[in-house]
Amino acid sequence: MRFTKKDILDIESLEPNEISMILDTAYGMKEISERAVKKVPTLRGKTIVLFFQEPSTRTKLSFDTAAKRLSADSLSISKSSSSIVKGETLIDTAKNLEAMNPDVIVLRHPSSGAAHLIAKRVRASVINAGDGIHAHPSQALLDMMTVREKKGKIKGLKISIIGDIAHSRVARSDITGFSKMGAHVFICAPGTMIPMGIENLGCTISPNIETCIEGADIIMMLRIQKERQGNILFPTEREYAMLYGLNKARLNLAKKDVIVMHPGPMNRGVEISSEVADSEYSLILEQVTNGVALRMALFYLVAGGGRHADSD
Ligand code: CP
Repeated sequence: MRFTKKDILDIESLEPNEISMILDTAYGMKEISERAVKKVPTLRGKTIVLFFQEPSTRTKLSFDTAAKRLSADSLSISKSSSSIVKGETLIDTAKNLEAMNPDVIVLRHPSSGAAHLIAKRVRASVINAGDGIHAHPSQALLDMMTVREKKGKIKGLKISIIGDIAHSRVARSDITGFSKMGAHVFICAPGTMIPMGIENLGCTISPNIETCIEGADIIMMLRIQKERQGNILFPTEREYAMLYGLNKARLNLAKKDVIVMHPGPMNRGVEISSEVADSEYSLILEQVTNGVALRMALFYLVAGGGRHADSD
């Protein structure tokens, strides 16, 4: 099978066999990061632009690391260091990037749909590194990679996603991805943080956190995204932690071999206790490790061994 997608914009547009292909490629890439010399020449001569208009630690650094491990040239601009601050539009900026002939543009942007907008206008592959509350496909793919690596499968697992679903692009991409791959996805949040129609993505709304966690194979905790909330959607962080936080007592309701995940950044003591975040059940840092391999796989598939295989 050949990977034929030009862009990685969301999980909706990926077929299950394409998701499997990305994960299989990522498992192969992981070994490169474990070598003494963590570099292969696969994407030598390719140019990758990282354009992040929102803060990022994990996503930006792992895309940059992924590009360097494949020997691509990676260039980075942020909102504050670009001419966006002088009034240039996103489309004009994208056209100017295109004029320098990059192979891939990785975009993080506060507006939903931004990556789709530029993907239509540039020849380069566009990878969405998070657009507003819409999608964060590389995060969902690395989450699926981590689950399949640990559990040997995704199909049939109970995946519980708890937290600020309404403002989370990770939640939307995870719900779509895990349900596409045959998992049973349950969500839980205060009513103010559950968007209308979210069930249509392929999840069930649990009435409370205990029901959500009971018998779970995977618990995915989410941060409250205060930066995206116009109004305060819960009384206090203390009350939120009491009603929706993951602590050791609640973890005991899940399966004995449950794994705990979080896309980061965590707010310790709010959605997750330190006791759980640092426990043997936590794969939170393994997610970050897998993020590099998964993003290497995306670069390889869109710019190297996938679409361009015949011309190499
Ligand atoms: N998971 C995630 O997107 O983290 P960053 O915002 O640090 O990239």
